[in-house]
Amino acid sequence: MTKVLFVCLGNICRSPTAEIVFRHRVQAAGLSHLVRADSAGTGDYHIGELPDSRAREAALKRGYDMSNLRARQVQPEDFEEFHHILAMDRTNLAILKRRCPPAYSHKLGLFMDYSRNYSEREVPDPYFGGPGGFDIVLDMVEDATLGLLAKLRNE
Ligand code: 4NP
Repeated sequence: MTKVLFVCLGNICRSPTAEIVFRHRVQAAGLSHLVRADSAGTGDYHIGELPDSRAREAALKRGYDMSNLRARQVQPEDFEEFHHILAMDRTNLAILKRRCPPAYSHKLGLFMDYSRNYSEREVPDPYFGGPGGFDIVLDMVEDATLGLLAKLRNE
């Protein structure tokens, strides 16, 4: 079993979107028994909350139902449990690097490093922007998911 953790700041916009999209692709590929996904935030502002309603709406339009997800914060045990811990931006990657025991630092990376069609290495935070930002997040996440899945198939 390979376990992937997606990480953003609040765990209500970008990382739960990555979790649901990646899980859908894993299921479609028939790999659910081999690959597990979860998401968490570096911050504690939204613990226990549903994903942002704008994120849920944009995702549902593409067939992703996020209504079962609840925000949680990254825990010390996550660094041991997960094999790939992928941040949505450099700020959250830097926070993870500070909290991660050195023995597990090789697990940390940027999710967008798996993207094939975007040169951007960060998924922009849509929280303070308009609804269009959530579609950009979905576009970028769908693209990086394909690259990540291809890498995991090779493992
Ligand atoms: P996320 O978006 O990190 O993609 O979940 C944000 C959610 C909440 C806040 C910032 C970003 N906030 O400042 O509360």
